[in-house]
Amino acid sequence: GDASLVTHALAKDELSRLREKDTEQVEFRKGLVRLGRLCGYEIIDGRMETEYVEIETPLTTTMGERVTGLDDVVIVNVLRAATPFVEGLLKAFPRARQGVISASRDESAGMDEDGEFPISVDYVKLPDIGPDDTVIVADPMLATGSTMTAVLDHITGAGGDPDHLVVLSAVAAPPGIVRVSEAFPDVDLLTVAIDDELDEEGFIVPGLGDAGDRAFR
Ligand code: PRP
Repeated sequence: GDASLVTHALAKDELSRLREKDTEQVEFRKGLVRLGRLCGYEIIDGRMETEYVEIETPLTTTMGERVTGLDDVVIVNVLRAATPFVEGLLKAFPRARQGVISASRDESAGMDEDGEFPISVDYVKLPDIGPDDTVIVADPMLATGSTMTAVLDHITGAGGDPDHLVVLSAVAAPPGIVRVSEAFPDVDLLTVAIDDELDEEGFIVPGLGDAGDRAFR
């Protein structure tokens, strides 16, 4: 299993602020929005095509360049921590259709011997997904990968077979990358950082703490 990295220097800058324990709620949330926008630009740069089109300026006719596929983007918001991250992504993909999935780890159950958490999926609302779509599943944290595999089961099980399925995180841990890429080999994993490890409670180390709590509490 492998993941590609978002390489823009500003993305690393934003992530470093998010990691800081003194970054409080408002700055944390705004930082996730800015990071989402940068990640969106990275997806456009590395994964989408452009085409030359004739355009008319107020003075003359010339060739312009447009990004193709911007109208065929679906962004899936994995509640709760992804909400500000998705707000940023929407600045790069303003016409994207959106899906929402509420999936969360049952922390009280703890990790099982395979390093997985039981996941409760409480709400799923997805737009129709067609073969031409680029689907971006956004969740700032990919830890054990339990949440993301549950989410991807719902997306791929819904019958839509998108051209391109991107799993976007801010911080990913190696066990989550392995779990998702083994279960979904065609998924394109993109993250700003790959961290060292998970602690015994399944938190990413060094990580940034609990992104949902830091953004919402
Ligand atoms: C966190 C995070 C991811 C998930 C990652 O969500 O936002 O969704 O855990 O962990 P995993 O890869 O081990 O599944 P959490 O369950 O805390 O829910 P929240 O976003 O509502 O706080």
